[in-house]
Amino acid sequence: MTYQEVLENARKTIKNCKACPECNGLGCGGTMPGPGSKGGGAHENWKAWRNIRLNIDTFAPNTNVDTTFRLFGSEFSMPLMTGPIGTLLQYSDTDVTVDFNDGVMKAAKEHGIINCFGDGLAPQTVPGALASIEKYGVASVPVLNPMPNESIIRTMEAVEKSSAFAVAVVVDSAGLGIWNKLGSGGMGSKTVDDLKLLKSHTKKPFIVKGIMTARAAELALEAGADAVIVSNHGGRVLADAPATAAVLPEIVKAVDKRAVVIVDGGIRSGGDIFKALALGADAALICRPFATTWFGGGSEGVGVYIEKLHKELVEAMYMCGARSLADIRPDMIRFKHSQLER
Ligand SMILES: Cc1cc2nc3c(=O)[nH]c(=O)nc-3n(C[C@H](O)[C@H](O)[C@H](O)COP(=O)(O)O)c2cc1C
Repeated sequence: MTYQEVLENARKTIKNCKACPECNGLGCGGTMPGPGSKGGGAHENWKAWRNIRLNIDTFAPNTNVDTTFRLFGSEFSMPLMTGPIGTLLQYSDTDVTVDFNDGVMKAAKEHGIINCFGDGLAPQTVPGALASIEKYGVASVPVLNPMPNESIIRTMEAVEKSSAFAVAVVVDSAGLGIWNKLGSGGMGSKTVDDLKLLKSHTKKPFIVKGIMTARAAELALEAGADAVIVSNHGGRVLADAPATAAVLPEIVKAVDKRAVVIVDGGIRSGGDIFKALALGADAALICRPFATTWFGGGSEGVGVYIEKLHKELVEAMYMCGARSLADIRPDMIRFKHSQLER
């Protein structure tokens, strides 16, 4: 199966998504519910990466490129995580979330990358995902919505008994809960004390997702975060938020290597993953394209996309003179700034 075939297949089965040649937030526009975003936020994220170019500089030993990524004592094929989607009802009339998580986890394991899954609202989602973790032995991270603490702790107890790789809380989902506490199952904002309490209920690495300012990064670290995910939820929680690429450097500076920094939002190619690392991230997370490729080819379709990303990352590293992730430097990228570069 080629990547083009995966997209063509997806167009026949997916809802609310046009499986565009490039998932740039335009086809779905400002549509929510659905996979879109508020106020074009998904497109803003995507556009920011397009404004960064790769500097060709091939002066380097003619040796193989090594994309090996190490996190919390484990080794992965590249610095990539598949993103959490709480419910696939955004893409389908029937709830296929458990099957989606299973298929993406299978592909993640086969291709040596990390998976994340969302806790959604359906009761079968977390047990289904935890069963898939054991089935494949995949490094997988449950990303828990900011429900009342007692509810998160209950889920964490089940997660703790599983082989989950780490546990994450997504603080920006507060933006999904603001207008309809009931409809969103009671999601809301968290304090440093809330996060400290939640962290005390796990021995696994603790990740905070939804960080968009240096202040929030500082507070996540104060709460004990081992990693932060720079994310605006794909533009789904607030219109006019900045692109994640724009805020990444200041957050990297604030974190100052005290925790792992992961970034998501509009990252679509191996070249984009390279740009994220050049801006100081340790790894990238990609979400929507994994839904599209799963609808287009199940776990095989997801695998086709992961292979494409890996090939592009290797090419970007080779052509910019990096032979390992540690070689990737800020001067290997360039920002478009003149008429000539439009
Ligand atoms: C339909 C949909 C559902 C999502 N559900 C969740 C979720 O349950 N938990 C979460 O942390 N993020 C959720 N996200 C956000 C993604 O994980 C990710 O942060 C965001 O989409 C940015 O990545 P992308 O531009 O590669 O899609 C969701 C995104 C979409 C499009």
